Amino acid sequence: MTAESANNAGFGQLKRSFGVLQLTMISVGATLGTGILVILGDAVPVAGPAIWIAFVLAGVTALLSAVSYAEMAGMVPVSGSSYSYSYATMGEGVAWICGWCLILEYAVSAAAVAVGAGQYVNQTLEIFGLDLPASLASGPVDGGVINLPALLTVVAATLLLARGARESAVANTVMVMVKIAILVFFSVVAFTAFDAGNFAPLLPMGAAGVSAAASMVFFSFIGFDAASTAGEEAKNPQRDMPRSIIISMVLVTTVYVLVAVAAIGARNWQWFEGAQAALVMIVSEVTGQPWVVLIFALASVIAIVSVVLTTLYGQTRILMTMGRDGLVPKAFAKVSTKTHTPVVGTLIVGTAVAITASLIPLGELAEATSIGTLFAFALVGVAVIFLRRTQPDAPRTFKVPFYPLTPLLGIAACLFLMFNLGSNTWIVFGIWMAVGFIVYLGYGRKNSRLGALAKETYRETLKTK
Ligand code: ALA
Repeated sequence: MTAESANNAGFGQLKRSFGVLQLTMISVGATLGTGILVILGDAVPVAGPAIWIAFVLAGVTALLSAVSYAEMAGMVPVSGSSYSYSYATMGEGVAWICGWCLILEYAVSAAAVAVGAGQYVNQTLEIFGLDLPASLASGPVDGGVINLPALLTVVAATLLLARGARESAVANTVMVMVKIAILVFFSVVAFTAFDAGNFAPLLPMGAAGVSAAASMVFFSFIGFDAASTAGEEAKNPQRDMPRSIIISMVLVTTVYVLVAVAAIGARNWQWFEGAQAALVMIVSEVTGQPWVVLIFALASVIAIVSVVLTTLYGQTRILMTMGRDGLVPKAFAKVSTKTHTPVVGTLIVGTAVAITASLIPLGELAEATSIGTLFAFALVGVAVIFLRRTQPDAPRTFKVPFYPLTPLLGIAACLFLMFNLGSNTWIVFGIWMAVGFIVYLGYGRKNSRLGALAKETYRETLKTK
């Protein structure tokens, strides 16, 4: 359903206010965060000094998908991202599978990221001897009762989003500036302690370690596609969405490789074993200045808050699109005439994510997120090939270079990283997809707009007999 027909159907309309800067900031906002600030530390012992190669591998996988996203975003400029691309090309069933995977990419990753923010808050407080009571520092799986910092992060982001998209975009742009500045600052500090000897031997854990780490750090690239959920708030979506997706990918990959090289240069790879919030610790040890550490830690929390904000934003827009199609309750699709945001959907998503984040730890969530995202990315590659065959002459504001090699390689790279994820992740994914299947049969198929049209046509046919 287009924005205009959604408005005519009584769902209300979003307001177009984003240019290429805001769109790029949405993508960078959703991407730069826990992956580099938290998961980098966990992945170094897996890959060894070759961690930067793992980032390059994950980055290339993401880039191969990013160009497919760019082509599709230019052709289908709505707010549903790959859900809408799948709908437009492969129909409702595949679109549902994609939309269900996108819940892993957006809502579940928002929860995972909020847990990461919680870790940073706890770490920062510890530096100053201010320990949060264990019962409030983590959820029940980790021995606490509730992860209060994670909960507060999600609540704050939800309230801001419900208030307005423009306000959220302004706050996000400021936060993105802060996080780029802090990562550049980290690199400068870490380079002052650079020891080239830390890079030898490059592959102590072998090539298998590097590919396993690439699957882990793929999480840090998730979100580059968030601009594609802003199609109905962009002033010129066909032109600006492809641009912002590509710009954000290049920017983010550059920052990641820089930070990874700087971190290994500053500390031997074995030092990272068991180190929580490794980047803050490096800054702390290298500078020896408590105030620098405080600023760095606070900025890290801000960085992570912006991921939560933008991923929640993306999730609300995708569910809004799915709600208009009838695959999820229509409440998700209602846009407030006052704030021009899907307020009810935002509050429902915010509440669900807040509950998840306060109870479940990061690792389990992050891996489930990656596998769902990789699957959705692979589907976008398929959608590009599909449309090139069925509608070769349709206007395209951005075209995937080296077609069909690029989307085919993109699909292969996504499948490769999926198969590198652990068996537990696959089990979680299998259960998630099975639940999705039941939800579709029990709700989506009965209530879908396509289903309604089919029923209508059937009734018409009966009438004419
Ligand atoms: N890419 C996002 C992060 O690393 C999800 O926090």
